[in-house]
Amino acid sequence: APVPRLEHHTLERYENIWFGIAVVMSVLLFVAVLTSFISGTYSAVQGEGAHHITGVTNGRLDPRNLAATPFAQPGLRENPDGTLEAFVVSRAFAYDPPVLRVPAGRPVTIHVTSADVMHGYYVEGTNINVNVVPGQVASLTATFRQPGDHSVICNEYCGAGHHNMLGRVVVET
Ligand code: CUA
Repeated sequence: APVPRLEHHTLERYENIWFGIAVVMSVLLFVAVLTSFISGTYSAVQGEGAHHITGVTNGRLDPRNLAATPFAQPGLRENPDGTLEAFVVSRAFAYDPPVLRVPAGRPVTIHVTSADVMHGYYVEGTNINVNVVPGQVASLTATFRQPGDHSVICNEYCGAGHHNMLGRVVVET
């Protein structure tokens, strides 16, 4: 028997409603996933952070003598008390280390300085965004909640290679 027209329309309307709900749920899920990837707690601390840094006084150092500071061995280190600190050197037109690997879910204090001119240190997908001034140490503490890959971008004009000055923060499980 043919389905009455009215009933058919009613059925279609219900299907549309469910389709609409599915679309809305998908969008909400997508936003939630996106948010969870970029979420984290970032608190900027000026200068040296929790620990004294050799060769750094009140957040200042001699940019010509980074060898006398932990910036001579850039990268992540674990302190004896279990805290994590990372040292990053910016110079035209790269970051050292080019890829900073950090564990997810643990606070990391990142110290950034410049070996030459002013640079930026913006970790894409986060609110980490600091000016890197030669002679100064920019310090911030960040907890990356989710594993993932973040580009680091220099957002301070620093010369011919400025637009190609890129780095990476890789958050590992
Ligand atoms: Cu370094 Cu722009």
